[in-house]
Amino acid sequence: MNRDNAGPGQNGAAASDAVLELVGLGKDYGARTAVQAIDLVIRRGEIFGLLGPNGAGKTTTISMACGVVPPSRGTARIAGHDIRSDAFAAKRAIGLVPQDLALYDDLSPRQNLAFFGQLYGLTGAELARRIDWALGVAGLGDRAGDLVKTFSGGMKRRLNLAAGLIHQPTLLVLDEPTVGVDPQSRRHIFDSIRALQARGMTILYTSHYMEEVEELCDRVAIMDAGAVVASGTLAELRAQHGAGGLEVEIDGDGDAIAAAAAAAAPLGGTRTGAVLRFEPRPAYAPALAAIEATGAQIKRIGAQRADLETVFLALTGRGLRDA
Ligand SMILES: Nc1ncnc2c1ncn2[C@@H]1O[C@H](COP(=O)(O)OP(=O)(O)O)[C@@H](O)[C@H]1O
Ligand SMILES: [Mg+2]
Repeated sequence: MNRDNAGPGQNGAAASDAVLELVGLGKDYGARTAVQAIDLVIRRGEIFGLLGPNGAGKTTTISMACGVVPPSRGTARIAGHDIRSDAFAAKRAIGLVPQDLALYDDLSPRQNLAFFGQLYGLTGAELARRIDWALGVAGLGDRAGDLVKTFSGGMKRRLNLAAGLIHQPTLLVLDEPTVGVDPQSRRHIFDSIRALQARGMTILYTSHYMEEVEELCDRVAIMDAGAVVASGTLAELRAQHGAGGLEVEIDGDGDAIAAAAAAAAPLGGTRTGAVLRFEPRPAYAPALAAIEATGAQIKRIGAQRADLETVFLALTGRGLRDA
């Protein structure tokens, strides 16, 4: 494709495509900086993952983007509407599914959704139609009249999702929507998110579970200590920041394995049983040559695919799980 004739070029194309733009967005709580100054573009139709350990600043970032927390610096634009100067239109375009459940326990799902729908000015037949649709997305149609306080954690999470959808926002923001849910509800939430994407909704998904982000998201930003430390597609992040490991299985007796392990150690290899593991991946040829020079027979070589855990480790020197 000839880019010169394709429109305003990459920056212009990205801007017109942008559903959410964060522009130097940051937050201080007193002397503590929760979010430094984030620049990020979420494009129309994508599922974008914001991944980071607890305390990284994910909730603060999206709370600012949704107009719930006032920024200390920078701004955000939602579907072109600035949250500072055009807050009403910006908030209408966004649906927030908060980390902490925002539901009325003594009401039914239908009553909860009616309440949230009315906040957006929905009434009458249109409100009823939206409620039925949102209940269907959440898979709660058959429990629509029961009290929320009788629901499992997973059902409450699904209703929380429905509440964020009732005004059919352009951008749906989900903050750790699977914390404390059973596998079946988690599966349902994932399927719902994909179905919403298929009908054109843009999704911003925050999580500290890298497996979820890997499974669901088209692009990812990794956050740590209030900053985005890397962003891109999974393939880009893996290629740039995570080489993945190498496993070499030795065929032989204990002495042969010990000799191979001794040769591997200076190259970063560690031994578990008959398997020597290198992390990050070393240069293949010298590593294999060093092992074979001991006379050891190599039974199997496995290249381990880098995951986001590896990427996070490479970027921060810490694991996502223990951060
Ligand atoms: N209302 C607040 N007052 C003071 N500090 C806060 C407040 N909200 C969040 N923080 C701090 O900001 C940092 C980022 O928190 P948060 O955005 O909740 O991270 P995450 O969602 O990634 O776990 C943490 O150090 C947290 O303690
Ligand atoms: Mg959070």
